[in-house]
Amino acid sequence: MRNWLLPALACILLQAGMARAAEPPGVASCSGCHATSKAVDTPVPRLFGRKADELATAMREYKAGTRPGTIMGRLAKGFSDEEIAAICDWFAGQPDK
Ligand code: HEC
Repeated sequence: MRNWLLPALACILLQAGMARAAEPPGVASCSGCHATSKAVDTPVPRLFGRKADELATAMREYKAGTRPGTIMGRLAKGFSDEEIAAICDWFAGQPDK
């Protein structure tokens, strides 16, 4: 093996690991209902690529009980405002694919 290959590989793997670690806790639970691809035909609103403050406002209103919803009111109560901000920032940064 060429001697530059190993460090290069290690670097790629490390970056992949970091990209995954950048996903805030809780995000994985959203994709059960909110589709991660445009190809999915679903009545549940899409979150990818939306404005972070628009999403965070919705989450805070669900949490406060001032926004009508079927499931999100209960769900949003499980997250702190900091977690909501981190999750919504992450969704806003994802390509809407
Ligand atoms: C069990 C299914 C389910 C899960 C899990 C879920 N959602 Fe939802 N979400 C919905 C539904 C259904 C709506 C439509 C409002 C309602 O009926 O509560 C919604 C609406 C929303 C909205 C409002 C979007 C809009 O355009 O009005 C946001 C923001 C949102 N969800 C964020 C999240 C986040 C963030 C997570 C993960 C922490 C999450 N949801 C997990 C089902 C779910």
